[in-house]
Amino acid sequence: MSSTFHAGNGKVTVPYILSRKFSLAANESQESSNRQAGSQRSGRSKITCLTAYDFPTARLLDDAGIDILLVGDSLGMVVLGYENTLPVTLEEMLHHTRAVRRATRRALLVADMPYGSYHAGIPEALHNAMRFVKEAGAEAVKVEGGERRLELIARFAEAEIPVMGHIGLTPQSVNAMGGYKVQGKTPDAAERLLRDALAVEAAGAFAIVLEAMPRELAARITQNLRIPTIGIGAGPDCDGQVLVLHDMIGLSLGERPKFARRYANVADEITRAVREFCADVRDGGFPSDAESYHGPAQTPASALRSPEVA
Ligand code: KIV
Repeated sequence: MSSTFHAGNGKVTVPYILSRKFSLAANESQESSNRQAGSQRSGRSKITCLTAYDFPTARLLDDAGIDILLVGDSLGMVVLGYENTLPVTLEEMLHHTRAVRRATRRALLVADMPYGSYHAGIPEALHNAMRFVKEAGAEAVKVEGGERRLELIARFAEAEIPVMGHIGLTPQSVNAMGGYKVQGKTPDAAERLLRDALAVEAAGAFAIVLEAMPRELAARITQNLRIPTIGIGAGPDCDGQVLVLHDMIGLSLGERPKFARRYANVADEITRAVREFCADVRDGGFPSDAESYHGPAQTPASALRSPEVA
């Protein structure tokens, strides 16, 4: 549990994530001189975030040095096989958040509030958010939506629950949006998204996900906010980047969005291993003698019989 770690010994905390934005601002002049000197990769360190849904992958990601582990409701699509994120239940999210909690030692653990868990009124939303903290060990929750979540985010912050916002393409609005579409493409839509981002910040969120929007708009929002922006399909100018783990390791079976760079092909590796196992079992190549347990040498058959049979 995170309680074994303290700020300053490597544990990623909410204030630390916030400080990554402030240090970017403070380093701005150094940054531009570095850039002028031709150094594209100056000391600037962007925030890294990936989704995690179970114990072993969360442990691997944590040990590899990821800053934020997000138990995303994308769980519904990439792990549970739902068509979209809408059917994901609070209990499913709590179950998977607990598994990730048990594995996570260093990263900040953020849990997505699923559709329906914060839409029916603030008292119920607060109760559900507290369950993520008290019962599942989340250190922050994420909610989708901009201006219309102002009061909700403020009430969470008041109750000591750090909130990550999420604007742009918000998958829980798939029906209202008429599909998964890039957002903020017209000047009006871009202004609305900037207002949404400012509202989320004003309400007290500590970071905000910007999903599927023109990179120019994401850059403008990033420049206008004091909290860090974490992009997904929002270009390179955000303060950090998030991807769905299964997309980036090649384990998602559906269509992959163009921004989801593939860093591994785990599906192919699983298929190869399973085919090899089947072939070995069928032709007697598995298990070998070395993979078998052995009894005492030349045990008489009678000694192997159970007492009732003897
Ligand atoms: O559910 C999820 O995985 C997310 C990320 C894509 C930001 O919301």
